Amino acid sequence: MTNPVSGFSKLSKSQKITWLTQAYFNGNETATEVLQTYWNSNTALQKLHDDFIENTISNYYLPMGVAPNFLINNTLYTIPMVIEESSVVAAASNAAKFWLEKGGFTTQVISTIKNGQVHLNYFGNVTDMTGFFAFIKPKLVASIIAVEKNMKKRGGGLVDIKLIDTTQTLEGFFQLHCTFETLDAMGANFINTCLETFAQTFEREAKTYHLFKSANTFPEVVMSILSNYVPECLVRASVSCHVDQLAQKDVSGRVFAEKLVRAIAIAKATPRRAVTHNKGIMNGIDAVILATGNDFRAVEAGIHAYASKDGQYSSLTHAEIEDNVFKMWIELPLALGTVGGLTSLHPLVRFSFDLLQNPNAKKLMQLVAVAGLAQNFAALRSLVTTGIQKGHMKMHLMNILNGVQATDTEKQAAVVHFTTQQISHSAVIDFVEQLRA
Ligand code: MEV
Repeated sequence: MTNPVSGFSKLSKSQKITWLTQAYFNGNETATEVLQTYWNSNTALQKLHDDFIENTISNYYLPMGVAPNFLINNTLYTIPMVIEESSVVAAASNAAKFWLEKGGFTTQVISTIKNGQVHLNYFGNVTDMTGFFAFIKPKLVASIIAVEKNMKKRGGGLVDIKLIDTTQTLEGFFQLHCTFETLDAMGANFINTCLETFAQTFEREAKTYHLFKSANTFPEVVMSILSNYVPECLVRASVSCHVDQLAQKDVSGRVFAEKLVRAIAIAKATPRRAVTHNKGIMNGIDAVILATGNDFRAVEAGIHAYASKDGQYSSLTHAEIEDNVFKMWIELPLALGTVGGLTSLHPLVRFSFDLLQNPNAKKLMQLVAVAGLAQNFAALRSLVTTGIQKGHMKMHLMNILNGVQATDTEKQAAVVHFTTQQISHSAVIDFVEQLRA
């Protein structure tokens, strides 16, 4: 058992590491050495990373890869992806190549509205509350003039404020439901500042409102926060082609198309499959979200909530065959930023934006949606034909070899051997042991 530490955040980086080493590693320097191995020798760059969060002790590397040949609305993109799972970038590249020859991906932003709420307690007369809201609304709008100035100049800002009576769900619960256009910013800071300003104005004015005073019952603010559920910030991406163009090695185009449609129908029919189906989609989405410095937790939370919008967790992708044309599409909410946050700070994020030809937020929504659709197509293609293990284990082979510290010669021999043999963890270990014997 270690003792609690006080003032930890005030310690220098090396003091923090010394404390950790003594408290958890019996003073063994190996742990310190591991942390130091990942420090950047460029001190300015290291300082930048140190300052992203509190108590930084090292940098945690993830591979950054690229998937080329994405034809999206007739423009070619190479998509940056940050992910640790072996087969994801390869799958994205394969799907991109597959659809490149069939006209590529088509995308469309459906809406871009974000939202947040001031959550209120009010146990009085509902008509007093609605009367107060009608009276206060212009004052709420006016209270954010200074906060909104720059956003408004660029064409964004507050869209509307509505009072929502949620007392049927939770006694005394009302909300100020506020909608915003935040353009190229993800908008979390802007929205939260607006909401907190509304909350202060609301509470202050409520104190002197005659009906609340005569009933001696006043509303109070519980909290003010943006919502990561953004079903009014939607994007769609699709692919389509004649079924004959889908022919696989041992499967006709029509049969393959029918298998894809069926696989998606299964994901719609049962959450057990839908969760894994959508997890595969998130492999693509999160990888681009990370490469472009966006908030993948916000994106994940919002997308999974959207997948449940009809009352049961379901597939984010859809497919149909009509008049011999196969069509597959994805529709999902994405609140993304191309300015603010990490976007201008992290050099690799800057690199990603340059690689993507400096997209605005709407364009980035489309690229991310395509990455999700491509990943789902690639996963389903494997699942309904060869199964995923073949491709997955091929990509995972190097991880297993690295796990047993295989030499370059051993790796080369293993790659040749497992071209024709089934790859499993134990088979690879046995193979390396035989080589060494
Ligand atoms: C693995 O990371 C993702 C898959 O399970 C997705 C799917 O099953 O559709 C292959």
